[in-house]
Amino acid sequence: MKKVVLGVSGGIAAYKACELLRLFTESGHEVRVVPTRDALRFVGEPTWAALSGHPVTTDVWDDVHEVPHVRIGQRADLVVVAPATADVLAKAAHGLAGDLLTNTLLTARCPVVFAPAMHTEMWQHPATRANVSTLRERGSVVIDPAVGRLTGADTGPGRLPDPAEIFQICLRVLADRPRDLAGRRVVVSAGGTREAIDPVRYLGNRSSGLQGYALARTAVARGAQVTLVAANVSLPDPAGADVVRVESAAELREAVLTASAAADVVVMAAAVADFRPAARQDSKIKKAEGDPDPLYLVKNPDILAELGERRHAAGPHPGVAAWPHPEVIVGFAAETDDVLANGQAKLARKGCDLLVVNQVGPDLAFGTPDNAATVLVAGGEPVEIPRGPKDDVADAVWDQVAKLLRHSRTPADT
Ligand code: CTP
Repeated sequence: MKKVVLGVSGGIAAYKACELLRLFTESGHEVRVVPTRDALRFVGEPTWAALSGHPVTTDVWDDVHEVPHVRIGQRADLVVVAPATADVLAKAAHGLAGDLLTNTLLTARCPVVFAPAMHTEMWQHPATRANVSTLRERGSVVIDPAVGRLTGADTGPGRLPDPAEIFQICLRVLADRPRDLAGRRVVVSAGGTREAIDPVRYLGNRSSGLQGYALARTAVARGAQVTLVAANVSLPDPAGADVVRVESAAELREAVLTASAAADVVVMAAAVADFRPAARQDSKIKKAEGDPDPLYLVKNPDILAELGERRHAAGPHPGVAAWPHPEVIVGFAAETDDVLANGQAKLARKGCDLLVVNQVGPDLAFGTPDNAATVLVAGGEPVEIPRGPKDDVADAVWDQVAKLLRHSRTPADT
């Protein structure tokens, strides 16, 4: 049974931490809640005690004989602070230890996850930015807040992500994956594009976006800054990822190329339509008008191939490092026949570094929670990823990506 410390600091989102606590306890984790004094103004001690099944203390003077200011942190397998206010981030970054939570953060030697929530101005203030950078450099996972409605009439970045999504990140961190994408910028495309025929109809495909979302979530847990370009996906936003929603291949191309300008890694997990209708009808095509015109198709640009060509043409990326940019480009391929032969040909044709080849079958790939794949490596041996949850498959892909990341990032690069 893994021991989790849930630190709660004094923000209005403290009530959402009750849901996070419940997710941990119901999945068999032992949770010790350590709220700050201010957090108790939002959610009272009896709630935390009842939901966790443990007594709740906020300062170091309670139960002194048990030396809680040291023991709680020492015994933890994971400390997650949700919500983390600007104040607690500052204290953690500077090693202050005025209450039980900050003492716990200093004594913990396990992974630490912060889920900040605050007003946009506070999140964007240079002091907070510097504190977040410090915590990330020390190996903590700081989940970027979601964009949306804040307290009062304000909206913007600063919202606590969905507790279920914070929980997913924590599970990945508890799974002891390396934080080897810290400081890296990663772009993941997910879902399937839709090509409009008329205002109500489109050509689409069966991609659910599950594998791409798993790639985004696991990259956040490994410390990356993630842009997720999502084509028609109806899944909750992964915590910490910057989600850009698109519909067509043209929109996806625009979003991926824009985000990839500053990226270390681009993973094209989206199912991109190879063709689109030559003309989009402005009005709905009516049955009463007789037989419809034939649907003529034209080719869409191949975004993955374009990324490879651009990198080849640009050569080393000026100012960042003497490596072509993005350093690693990953393609996906769903094949029904001659899986490996088709995959090898595609890897060479598209100029990517890795190609993750799935066999599409009745119970694999599209819309299912499990996946299995073979990763083809340019100039290397294929790597088999056994059948398992899409998060595990995603982590196995990042293992291969991490091997190819050559230069180490300095703070000035990020
Ligand atoms: N891809 C892309 N742009 C396209 C089509 C595909 O970037 N217009 C990317 C996908 O995101 C995926 C990879 O290319 O990472 C392989 O997609 P796939 O459809 O298997 O490749 P195709 O070249 O279209 O080959 P096929 O003839 O097998 O469909």
